[in-house]
Amino acid sequence: MILETRQREQMLPQPVVLISTVGRDGVRNIAPWSNITPILRPFDEIVLASWIKRDTLVNIRETGDFVVNVPPVNMADAVMVCSKNYPPDVDEFEKSGLKPCPSQQVKPPGIAGCLARLECTLTEEISRKNYSLIIGKVVLLEAEDKFFNEAGEMDYENAQPLSIMLGDKGMWFTRPVYAGKYADYSEMFMKKE
Ligand SMILES: Cc1cc2nc3c(=O)[nH]c(=O)nc-3n(C[C@H](O)[C@H](O)[C@H](O)COP(=O)(O)O)c2cc1C
Repeated sequence: MILETRQREQMLPQPVVLISTVGRDGVRNIAPWSNITPILRPFDEIVLASWIKRDTLVNIRETGDFVVNVPPVNMADAVMVCSKNYPPDVDEFEKSGLKPCPSQQVKPPGIAGCLARLECTLTEEISRKNYSLIIGKVVLLEAEDKFFNEAGEMDYENAQPLSIMLGDKGMWFTRPVYAGKYADYSEMFMKKE
């Protein structure tokens, strides 16, 4: 079957993160985001795609800082609260009931209870007519100890990071589960000169 253009977004499972920012005037903002990916390894940079009409984009431009928070599945209700189009002077921590936790390197607070927090600073904006690509440097990556095993790998079955599959009029909230196969793979790691 050949899909309509609007159906193409349904093809890929997508992560859900919460981006926390502050405005120039200090108002705290949170917005869910799926168009986001690390840029290769070793995860020094991250890129996100933003429609032009986003307080998140305005705040990142104005302050140069943002925090990418990885929510667990039980934050799905709060995610949907933060997805509403509130005016820029609304504090979305207060609206959603999500609790802040202080950041170390950037102004916006992270979100308590998230599995991981990536403190980021803006390095480049690639502007298009209706959207922008924001490239950020990850200046600090912090994660909850309890979701990491002794080998230092994320126990994703317990952590339950939130993801989605998009539908025609909404989205199904999902989470990764083990598919029964593990493969060693070192080709992607950069070789030391
Ligand atoms: C699961 C989910 C993922 C989203 N991903 C994006 C995205 O990648 N880019 C984007 O511009 N908006 C995305 N949105 C929409 C914004 O989160 C939404 O418009 C929000 O109100 C923006 O808030 P802000 O204006 O405070 O930045 C997403 C919404 C949801 C529910």
